[in-house]
Amino acid sequence: MRRFAGAAMALVLIVGLTGCSGKHTLFGQQEETVKSMKIGVSVYDQYDTFISSMLEYMNVYVKEKEKQENIKITMEVVNAGHSQLTQNDQVEEFLNDGYDVVCVNLVDRTDASTIIEKAKNTDTPVIFFNRELVEEDLERWDKLYYVGAEAFESGIMQGNLVVECCRERMDEIDKNGDGRLQYVILEGEAGHQDSLVRTEYAIKTVTDSKIQVERLADEIANWNRAQAMTKTAQWLNSFGEEIEVIFANNDDMALGAIDALKEDGPQQWPVVVGIDGTDVALEAVRKQELYGTVLNDARGQSEGIIELAWSLCTNHPLSEKFALQDGKYIRLPYEPVTYQNLEEIEMKKQI
Ligand code: BGC
Repeated sequence: MRRFAGAAMALVLIVGLTGCSGKHTLFGQQEETVKSMKIGVSVYDQYDTFISSMLEYMNVYVKEKEKQENIKITMEVVNAGHSQLTQNDQVEEFLNDGYDVVCVNLVDRTDASTIIEKAKNTDTPVIFFNRELVEEDLERWDKLYYVGAEAFESGIMQGNLVVECCRERMDEIDKNGDGRLQYVILEGEAGHQDSLVRTEYAIKTVTDSKIQVERLADEIANWNRAQAMTKTAQWLNSFGEEIEVIFANNDDMALGAIDALKEDGPQQWPVVVGIDGTDVALEAVRKQELYGTVLNDARGQSEGIIELAWSLCTNHPLSEKFALQDGKYIRLPYEPVTYQNLEEIEMKKQI
């Protein structure tokens, strides 16, 4: 009789939970049978190549999760268009509309406090991604998370691509034969963790391997292909054949450099390396215009975001595929890409 009463109570509970509401605690609470959930996503720029590929993957994983768990997931994506104020308003609207989890690709990674305060007021968890907020901000509340990667890893891998290339054919790369690499570097947005750290570690990795370098120039091109093309065209004007290596903090800027080289480059192109492993960049590696890149795992990060969102909403344990570091971080590893492992990487990107 008592067993029957217990089962009946459980049934009432399950039937009552048609949406994802109430407490959102990742662990330590009863798993909830949830029939629907709403995820709000605000991105700094929806036209950024890497971010738009993440959004595509997130959509696919939402559909997969819906099938797997027999749940209705509504994911609404909005573009902050480079304005932190717009993003703050967008998040506020999600919170007022009762979204269960909010995913934020911050415009200004040093300015997360408004969003954090608003989310706290409605007890809604926030998953920040790709643009890493400062640690003190992430520590301000236990329902704040970050999904991304370790910037320094990609810098080291990019540096190693250049080191390997030098080992194979230094004579060819070192066009003026002075035993040093004359390089230029295209940097992402000022203040973005990936710009500062990738630049530092890429160059350090090359010099640590006892290859001498000489920086001819560095410029911020804001992750942007057209800006990178303009900067590179100027450099080609001033330095011409002197440029032996072009480092770019991401693939779009590496492709911009290649656009400039195609238009008015020297006969023997410098070595060009990027980071991200976007589809267009992999195509350039195939054509051997881009020497190499580093896969920034958009697919893994997107899956991590959706899994974490689901887990927060339902109180189910997080999928074993993802380790939650310090209770807050999911970081996916990078992977170097050259002509040699191109196919393997392409397979990895496919769902
Ligand atoms: C990517 C860039 C992208 C930027 C946006 C970086 O991690 O490598 O391609 O533009 O994130 O925040």
